[in-house]
Amino acid sequence: MNAKSQIREILWTRFHAENENRLKTAELNHDILKDVTRRYGMNLNDIKSAARGKMTLCKMCRVCNGETCRGLTPGPGGKGSGQTFVRNVEKLKDITLNMRVLHNDDNVDCTLEFFGQTLKAPIFAAPIAKIKANYGTSFSEIEYLEALSAGCATAGLLPFYGDGVQSEFFDLPLEFIKKHKGFGVPTIKPWINEITFEKIMRANEVSPVAIAMDVDAAGLISLKQTSTPIAFKHLNDLLEIRSKINGPFIIKGVMTVKDAELAILAHADAIIVSNHGGRVMDDGISTIEVLSEIASFVAHRALILTDGGYRSGYDVFKALACGADGVLVGRPFSHAAIGGNAEGVALYAKQLIAELEDAMRMTGCFTLKDIQRTNINLHF
Ligand SMILES: Cc1cc2nc3c(=O)[nH]c(=O)nc-3n(C[C@H](O)[C@H](O)[C@H](O)COP(=O)(O)O)c2cc1C
Repeated sequence: MNAKSQIREILWTRFHAENENRLKTAELNHDILKDVTRRYGMNLNDIKSAARGKMTLCKMCRVCNGETCRGLTPGPGGKGSGQTFVRNVEKLKDITLNMRVLHNDDNVDCTLEFFGQTLKAPIFAAPIAKIKANYGTSFSEIEYLEALSAGCATAGLLPFYGDGVQSEFFDLPLEFIKKHKGFGVPTIKPWINEITFEKIMRANEVSPVAIAMDVDAAGLISLKQTSTPIAFKHLNDLLEIRSKINGPFIIKGVMTVKDAELAILAHADAIIVSNHGGRVMDDGISTIEVLSEIASFVAHRALILTDGGYRSGYDVFKALACGADGVLVGRPFSHAAIGGNAEGVALYAKQLIAELEDAMRMTGCFTLKDIQRTNINLHF
């Protein structure tokens, strides 16, 4: 360890000791944290321990795998037994990479052209809403949106934003998308059409990169317990929704070839192979298990994104090898925001990108197009 990092570690240890109680009671003053991180720098372990002290519902496990928070929804966990969330993470670990190093190239390019934007990598922050209620934190929705939008902009990754019953959970993200000149994707819940159309109109006004709808949210317990009507969507609804969206339309929550077919018929520009991080149906299959089949069926008629259990750039590589064009990462981005504000988000994003580049270099893939099914082994 060099002298600079030794000093940094000593200062961070002192900072944690001095602020232990406030960290535990989630009363940490973000300005202090910002100041310390600005002056001394931080690493992902610092961010994790800061986040751990600021959340009561999420235990900030070593690996975010859905075990400790089984059934905790509302909260950060998966629905019911929590098995779908757990399976998302487990199945990714049943994939290995094939090392191929007999080449003389060190330069990899993982930039992605995405609906007119050049992104640093095919990695996105997944839409997550209701930070306070879901994590048991005093970190506010505005602080979260500020951290996510600024951190992603710094790292060159595109953030998706969530939605909720109370209007602020949709309106606040739109303000941040506007502030970042359209750089963001609002994700509208499948409300009854009347409410949906009104939200689309407001989203169109900020000219976002795309507008998404998480059609699987019809199964969310937290929405079922409210009086705001949500609805399952079928082809006619989707066609009407599509006709009202000015830019690209993304359908999130596709887990079967049949639904992918309907999404294509509804002229979706992209689909997200997603089970909502295991929050909408118990005992579901993992996203990585269905990804290849859906990608083969879609055959480039729409972009394919996916999410659920992706924690590292190596995990992202596995999805790309199964035919995805990009991967959304959910819970870990919230941890990074809660523990380290915009700096935390940017740091985590940069780690994901560095890991993806490493996976590409070590498998002899120099562009995203080079990443193929033959670069991995599925052990399921
Ligand atoms: C606390 C929490 C809130 C979420 N809110 C939304 C939301 O508002 N809209 C949405 O489309 N998905 C929402 N999701 C699902 C994520 O976008 C994403 O599909 C999922 O978290 C991916 O799995 P991962 O967290 O294991 O990476 C939420 C997930 C969590 C954990």
